[in-house]
Amino acid sequence: MAISADEFKAAFATRAGAVGILTARAGEQVHGMTVTDFAGLSVDPPLLLVCLDKKANTLGVIERGGCFAVNLLAQGQEDLSNKFASKKDEWSRFDGVDVDQGPTGAPLIRCAITSLDCRVVAAHEAGDHWIYVGEIEAAVLRGGEPLVYCGGAYRALTAS
Ligand SMILES: Cc1cc2nc3c(=O)[nH]c(=O)nc-3n(C[C@H](O)[C@H](O)[C@H](O)COP(=O)(O)O)c2cc1C
Repeated sequence: MAISADEFKAAFATRAGAVGILTARAGEQVHGMTVTDFAGLSVDPPLLLVCLDKKANTLGVIERGGCFAVNLLAQGQEDLSNKFASKKDEWSRFDGVDVDQGPTGAPLIRCAITSLDCRVVAAHEAGDHWIYVGEIEAAVLRGGEPLVYCGGAYRALTAS
């Protein structure tokens, strides 16, 4: 017997995840959204996976452009995370955000602590999400402490 949506949400609210902004480019169009459901998948070849809601508008841009980048946010960048998650002014999320263009064409956010630029190599339909697998063509490591999301709130890491 399957669990309910509320049970699913309660279970995963106990999981902490690093906050990233997934960015994508198709021609002149750039778009991006906040994500926590991503993971390193393979070292050789270097693969990353990200899970995207079928309703996300970013999907179409990834499909057309064939690339994406995951930009890991730093502590204190909650506003940037909220901006890329909000549907208000959705198509102007990049206003005031400095980016470089990665080798795939995906925008790499300069104030992120890490940017992973990926070429799409597979997409798998899974329930109400798509899983995109990207081969990492470039990694920019700028340093800093990650922004963490857990239990519906942003958190900072502390050493135990
Ligand atoms: C902290 C946080 C993490 C999120 N993680 C994901 C995620 O991993 N996958 C996803 O599909 N949506 C995630 N979202 C929701 C999307 O960012 C949000 O629905 C966004 O508006 C989608 O943008 P789009 O429709 O323009 O693509 C997250 C939101 C927040 C605030």
